[in-house]
Amino acid sequence: MPDPEARASLAASRQGSSMLFGLRLFAYRLLKLLQWPTSRVVPIPRPTTFVGAGAALRLCDSIAQFGLKRVLIVTDAMLVKLGIVEPMRAALAARGVEVGVHDGITPDPTYDVLQRGCDAAKAHRADALLAIGGGSVIDAAKIIDAMVVSGKSPAKLVGMLKVGRPMLPLFAVPTTAGTGSEVTVAAVATDPVRHLKNIVIDPRLVPAAAALDPEVTRAMPPGITAATGLDALTHAVESYVNRWPHADTAFHAVSAVRMIFANLPRACADGNDLEARQAMLLASFYAGLAFTKAYVGYVHAFSHKVGGMYGVPHGLGNAILLPYVLDYLEDAPLARRRLAELAVAIGAGAADEPQSALAQRFVDRVRQLNRTVGIPDKLAALKSADIPEVARAAMVEAHRDYPVPRNMSLGEAEALLRRCIA
Ligand SMILES: NC(=O)c1ccc[n+]([C@@H]2O[C@H](COP(=O)([O-])OP(=O)(O)OC[C@H]3O[C@@H](n4cnc5c(N)ncnc54)[C@H](O)[C@@H]3O)[C@@H](O)[C@H]2O)c1
Ligand SMILES: [Fe+2]
Repeated sequence: MPDPEARASLAASRQGSSMLFGLRLFAYRLLKLLQWPTSRVVPIPRPTTFVGAGAALRLCDSIAQFGLKRVLIVTDAMLVKLGIVEPMRAALAARGVEVGVHDGITPDPTYDVLQRGCDAAKAHRADALLAIGGGSVIDAAKIIDAMVVSGKSPAKLVGMLKVGRPMLPLFAVPTTAGTGSEVTVAAVATDPVRHLKNIVIDPRLVPAAAALDPEVTRAMPPGITAATGLDALTHAVESYVNRWPHADTAFHAVSAVRMIFANLPRACADGNDLEARQAMLLASFYAGLAFTKAYVGYVHAFSHKVGGMYGVPHGLGNAILLPYVLDYLEDAPLARRRLAELAVAIGAGAADEPQSALAQRFVDRVRQLNRTVGIPDKLAALKSADIPEVARAAMVEAHRDYPVPRNMSLGEAEALLRRCIA
């Protein structure tokens, strides 16, 4: 036990570093204000989208018609084993395309996984990439493509607008309905040494075309269906309550929320319900459109750190954290109003009811949805000794990168995390 003088000096140095940390967060918030006008004018491309059963094969037809000759399929070993990749490989090969398959992507791809993908693309002399997989695969293909054209390492691509060169044509077939990566400007790369999930943001990352084909999501087990679907819900809700309103963000976010509440329980209960699967793919796409403009928030900031430290799957971390963060945001007038609107949108109340009652009912419905699809209430992986580190990393990410509707203090962040494990 240190003597009283040493304890006092330790407390003073902690207070000093916490003041510095507070100033840093404040500076981030000011910078965010400057980014707001930019976010309105930077054009964000949208992929050409093929929708419906068979859409993946129609996309392959179209890739061949573009005159592309050497396509590398980027995917994971599980999807090859499930037979999801072969029909698309065969369709491209039948149209005279020289197809390679790189199935080395693992969940939350690390820098070395990305480097091996880049080596495979160069070895194949790929003139285009086709990503077939969940968010991990699509993100990996985006970064691999950026690495090939820019010659940069993944670490050098982290941040805003670092690609700097036109990408090889990139196509995406999402096999989960959650991340919306097929339409977003973002890709996540995991730094395994610092246990951080780092974000690459660049409009060039948006794929040229995507297929939303329910057939390829049919094999997803209920647990992955639930977690990834709740990732999409988190995108829609976080973008909708944020401070940067875009007219079309509202439309896409509200539509996604409505579709997820109506279809996620069905998709989890019966994986062969192709109508629900299709609706979930569309909802994930709409949520992606919403957050690529209006960003995400505290749920993602916490979840990225928890994912980097303990390997908690992204969707699962978000699903557990979402109601806790919404409990906190409800006290902010803007967020309360938007949560009340979402309650009305899902039929949980009428527009003339008091806002606070409606907002609370929406949060209750999120908890109920979690329970229905088997999401636990607590974040079991999080160790209480790590809470200060998780809180600090999350506050940096949230205040630097996202226009959150209320400024959470470090103490509030730690208290929220403690409630998640209590
Ligand atoms: N780029 C973005 O905008 C964005 C947005 C949100 C999340 N992300 C990132 O995406 C990653 C998570 O992606 P995810 O949630 O889609 O999961 P994932 O891609 O990591 O896949 C999870 C597991 O599901 C399996 N799987 C995928 N499709 C399947 C299918 N149809 N049938 C059976 N198994 C299947 C995969 O093999 C894998 O084992 C995280 O790294 C996250 O940070 C990116
Ligand atoms: Fe997400």
